[in-house]
Amino acid sequence: MHRPIGLFDSGFGGLTVMTELAKLLPYENLIYLGDTAHVPYGNKSPATVLQYAIDNASFLMSKNIKLLIIPCHTACSHALKTLQELLSIPVIGVIQPGLALVQPKNRIAILATTSTIESGVYQSEILKHNPKAQIFPVSCPLFVPLIEEGFSNHPCAQLVANTYLQPLKNKVDAALLACTHYPLLRPVIQAALGAEVDLIEPAELCAQQAKELLAKSQLLNPQKNRPTYEFYASDDPEKFRQYGKLFFGLEIEKVEKNKNS
Ligand code: DGL
Repeated sequence: MHRPIGLFDSGFGGLTVMTELAKLLPYENLIYLGDTAHVPYGNKSPATVLQYAIDNASFLMSKNIKLLIIPCHTACSHALKTLQELLSIPVIGVIQPGLALVQPKNRIAILATTSTIESGVYQSEILKHNPKAQIFPVSCPLFVPLIEEGFSNHPCAQLVANTYLQPLKNKVDAALLACTHYPLLRPVIQAALGAEVDLIEPAELCAQQAKELLAKSQLLNPQKNRPTYEFYASDDPEKFRQYGKLFFGLEIEKVEKNKNS
């Protein structure tokens, strides 16, 4: 029960989910792997993303995790089901919480990487539950590099957001931010779509679902000690530490290189 919860993402973005987990489960030990050697996943083929996801999961399994959380939408789109079948521990992702949050809406924009949009996962799952939903999928490939270059508040971010999103103005009630990075562009996305559009992010609900699952399976850590947070990156650990600050609410003291990659 004191075993850690493992998370992996293509890079730093999944740290937003780790932040929510740390808030909601303050006694759980957490291990995060950022696959920075292979980021971005968003323009890779499904087979490549699946292989990266399997490698990341085996690294975390070697750390004896009790639950795997995949905060990366692209990895979830291509690998969640396979990992749920392959692994002996529970595996959850961000798709289900995202779907639960958009369910009451009828005109829904899905903003995501090209690979997530092309997987069609969100589109088909939304229609399964609400066949009348009007869905507007938009891949926004320039958002991730803009954020990673620190341009989230630069006027060029607004220009890019307007180019992708203004065609949807007055057409949608909600937009699902189906990419780990997009919450950092919330203000520009909101300005491009209009103030009345609900921007939906699954990080908090994903953390809640993890808590419920652990409680139900009697896997919550009964020890009320300060938890350990371990960070691994498959590329330059120091760069991960620096950029990670953008996404993680707490200090990142040390990042190690993931030796498996
Ligand atoms: N983590 C990815 C996602 O949520 C975004 C970054 C990437 O393209 O790898 O889809």
